[in-house]
Amino acid sequence: MTRPKSSGDASDATERDSRRHIPVLLSEVLESLAPKNGDLIIDGTFGAGGYTSAILDAANCRVLALDRDPRAVLEGGAIVARYQGRLTLVEAPFSELAQVAAETLTSEGHEARGGLADAVVLDIGVSSMQLDEAERGFSFQLDGPLDMRMSQKGESAADFLNTAGEEDIANVIYVYGEERRSRAIARAILKQRAVKPFGRTRELADVVLRVFHGRKVDGRHPATRTFQALRIHVNDELGELARALSGAEEILKPDGRLVVVTFHSLEDRIVKKFFAARTGKETGVSRHLPAQSIKSRPASFRFLNSRALTPSKGELDLNPRARSARLRWAIRTGEPAHPLDLAALEVPSPPD
Ligand SMILES: C[S@@+](CC[C@H](N)C(=O)[O-])C[C@H]1O[C@@H](n2cnc3c(N)ncnc32)[C@H](O)[C@@H]1O
Repeated sequence: MTRPKSSGDASDATERDSRRHIPVLLSEVLESLAPKNGDLIIDGTFGAGGYTSAILDAANCRVLALDRDPRAVLEGGAIVARYQGRLTLVEAPFSELAQVAAETLTSEGHEARGGLADAVVLDIGVSSMQLDEAERGFSFQLDGPLDMRMSQKGESAADFLNTAGEEDIANVIYVYGEERRSRAIARAILKQRAVKPFGRTRELADVVLRVFHGRKVDGRHPATRTFQALRIHVNDELGELARALSGAEEILKPDGRLVVVTFHSLEDRIVKKFFAARTGKETGVSRHLPAQSIKSRPASFRFLNSRALTPSKGELDLNPRARSARLRWAIRTGEPAHPLDLAALEVPSPPD
């Protein structure tokens, strides 16, 4: 399989402007990853390359970085060139990180067996460049095409809203947006699309605003949750996250580190459940079950610190967008990877 890679030619790369993404929890990420000379580190969410550059500056290591957004890969060309052979940047979803790592390392002449990476980092969500560019359609504050596809492939948010059934739309808004008025919003969407199919972010923001009679919710625009829900659905963000955690488990060497930064509770809950199951600290198992019916597998990860790290006040003063960030990390043991079970991680299933 041939995957688009950044050419590494600095002249290809569009220079970043003032919308540059500020890396979140950067010193905590570096401390948890603890890069050493000779390491291979996988950055599953390259974005503006903030983590990748800091990792490559911290040690004489190599980074294999992925991003599903072709723009991020194109613009990363300047960073690839700067690190002269120490950075490989591939356009791919992070759910495929184990496969991409095996393929890339084989094509670069390295032996590809299980236990390839010394660390994996994932910084879940969208970058400031995606959020702040009207043409990407992520923001209800900027009028643009109602798109929201990080990969710029597949079904857009407008395609979904213009073709899905009312119940499916309501379920997406309820499950991924945790929006109590999901049914009223879905009804209003169907009414509006019968007049004119959705094409622009402003059209959707206005429909939701009307459902709420123009009132804010918790001090925020009432379309905040609906936009979040559509973004998660269009990009299958929760399924991607669960598969990436499992891919990282497969690809990490014993003593390798998995570091994950999330931005909302739906994501954090999956990471927390994943680590709880893999470290043997699972909660919620009934005490009334006979002991032999609780199947326990040897722990594939161990914690140094099981609590989530959050941004300091100093970081929040500089970057308010970091406010809901949570970092969780754990260290791989030498035990086999557990099978991926989306239901056990309580990953909500999207409508068909
Ligand atoms: C929060 S930004 C990462 C910022 C980066 N850590 C930095 O310091 O510049 C998230 C990036 O992950 C990418 N992304 C999100 N979901 C992805 C997925 N499933 N597979 C690959 N990349 C993904 C987005 O396109 C975006 O560029």
